[in-house]
Amino acid sequence: MGKLKTGEQLVNHQLNAAENQFQQLLQTLIDHTPSAVYSRNCTGQYLFANKYYLDLFELTWDEVKGKTDFDLFPKEIAEVFRKNDLDVIKAGKPVQSEELAPQKDGLHTYFSVKFPLLDHSGQVYAICGISTDITEAKRAQALIADQEAKMVIASKLSSLGEMAGGVAHEINNPLAVIKTLSSQLQEIVVENPLDTLLVKEITSKIEKTTDRIARIVQGLRSFSRDGSNDPFSAVNVHQLIEETLSFCNERFKYLGVRVSIEDFKKDLSLEGRATELSQVLLNLLNNANDAIMDLKEKWIKISVSNKKDWVEIQVTDSGKGIPLDIQRKIFQPFFTTKEIGKGTGLGLSISSGIIQSYRGELKIDHKSPNTCFIIRLPKTQKSEHFKAVS
Ligand SMILES: Nc1ncnc2c1ncn2[C@@H]1O[C@H](COP(=O)(O)OP(=O)(O)O)[C@@H](O)[C@H]1O
Ligand SMILES: [Mg+2]
Repeated sequence: MGKLKTGEQLVNHQLNAAENQFQQLLQTLIDHTPSAVYSRNCTGQYLFANKYYLDLFELTWDEVKGKTDFDLFPKEIAEVFRKNDLDVIKAGKPVQSEELAPQKDGLHTYFSVKFPLLDHSGQVYAICGISTDITEAKRAQALIADQEAKMVIASKLSSLGEMAGGVAHEINNPLAVIKTLSSQLQEIVVENPLDTLLVKEITSKIEKTTDRIARIVQGLRSFSRDGSNDPFSAVNVHQLIEETLSFCNERFKYLGVRVSIEDFKKDLSLEGRATELSQVLLNLLNNANDAIMDLKEKWIKISVSNKKDWVEIQVTDSGKGIPLDIQRKIFQPFFTTKEIGKGTGLGLSISSGIIQSYRGELKIDHKSPNTCFIIRLPKTQKSEHFKAVS
């Protein structure tokens, strides 16, 4: 016959049961977690490894118990594991790292969090680690980065394509000027060979006009190259606008679009990459041009606001704004309202990616009665990268 339990015995019994249940809960969690969980002492000998770990490396606990990573893995891999363990022991606090471990199909990448186990006196007596396989996520990340890089190129090529017709205009005009000046020169040589002043004036005009063509060609060359790895440098805002406009000025003139730049400080500059900023601006100008093509009133206005730590470049066109249902989608990749072959729908999504990477913002100005896009950029980047090259 069992004796009845006292109140104290009953409480103890319940506490023991709760502790056992908790132990069981922990054991179940550790056994079923889809990560390798392990513990090693300060000399690197295994104190514990969960089922996932043992299955992963096709080992039994008897093969792992008391061994070190140097007994289980190739030397160069074990050295990294050991170094990371020592970092935790030295720091006395959790350390995160990415580690490589061999699998049947090659090396896998693991995201590892290792933390120290402390004894009563606060000394580290072991480390415990949780390592999760992130190989697939890394692969997907690399694929996305690769696709993004390809999208940037596609969008650039499409901007270049849009410009191609325009460039003919940009270059044809100065060529016509050179042709006229050369015929004048030929006439002078025949009729008035001694008028050196006039000859000088005409040749200097020819020189200036060839410089203009050279600038356009140079601009195109630097625009089409991949500048995404260029170091950040001081970009003069006025020059940026002028150089970008030099790709499309003549085309706008031909299409009857009036382009104006509101006056602002000529020496205003910001830290960035000129090719990327030019790509953003050019897309805004091309978009504006496409939007107003069929309007009676065709103008594009560029204005610049110089704020304390920020520069805002506004591109406004004579359109009356973008309908709300379209506005919601314009920054999404591949959204376009243009016919096939004309738009890629990548311009604004890539542009806002570029501007965001500068910690800036590309947005629509909802207060403007006309369609207005604002590029808001910090004047300085303060990034490690910038510091390293400046
Ligand atoms: N200034 C603008 N006025 C009206 N709609 C615009 C303007 N800028 C952009 N959009 C809209 O945003 C869409 C996406 O632009 P973008 O990403 O540059 O791609 P794409 O120019 O190839 O269409 C355009 O197709 C157009 O519908
Ligand atoms: Mg576009």
